[in-house]
Amino acid sequence: MKPRDRLRIAMQKSGRLTEPALDLLNRCGLTFRQSRDKLFCFGEGEPVDLLLVRDDDIPGLIAQGVCDLGIVGRNVLSEFRGTAGESNGNAALTEWRKLGFGRCRLSIAVPQEMDYNAPQDLHGRRIATSYPGLLGEWLRTQGVDATVITLAGSVEIAPKLGTADAICDLVQSGGTLVANQLRETDVLLQSEAVLAGPEALPSDERGDMIELLLKRLDGVIQVRE
Ligand code: PRP
Ligand code: ZN
Ligand code: MG
Repeated sequence: MKPRDRLRIAMQKSGRLTEPALDLLNRCGLTFRQSRDKLFCFGEGEPVDLLLVRDDDIPGLIAQGVCDLGIVGRNVLSEFRGTAGESNGNAALTEWRKLGFGRCRLSIAVPQEMDYNAPQDLHGRRIATSYPGLLGEWLRTQGVDATVITLAGSVEIAPKLGTADAICDLVQSGGTLVANQLRETDVLLQSEAVLAGPEALPSDERGDMIELLLKRLDGVIQVRE
């Protein structure tokens, strides 16, 4: 990896975290030149640039050193740490700050008419999810033997299609579950947007810039609370 003197932050290109993440960075005094439909946004004042990508790619970009920090849901970060983790020489990632927006939960949901009282009722069932690592870990701690079906998206329609008996997906308002006649039964993880980065700060100017950014973030988050 070529050394860089400018800090690079990865964030979601378009989605629920995009607006609040940009808003937060603006409040920290960072402004960017390019429009947000572009992949790269050049920082105007401070030496801090943005890379706009799919949220699921953010932990990998940090672990590989392509970006120094990322604004991403805890769900995505935890899934990455549980699966890809430190293998292949990737840096270990940590949650530097909770950001207080994008709150949601990763939950099990079953068809409304399904007889469900406890996780053991999932024994021998097929569960569709985009979070096979987190779901697998939860099933193990529950002592439940179920088949995990990994889907990249539209997880909520799997029961209706007959490709799964239950799902494990993010719930925010609950609207998606209602629209698909599903009911939430167990919460695996409470999530929100976090500032993610490597456990060790870079030992050059980027490390100093991260410390400055963390200080400003703490001020902004305190004011907002
Ligand atoms: C998440 C999740 C559900 C929906 C739940 O998807 O996968 O589909 O939000 O939210 P609700 O409880 O408010 O209905 P999201 O739209 O964030 O994006 P993705 O599925 O494309 O990643
Ligand atoms: Zn996503
Ligand atoms: Mg969705």
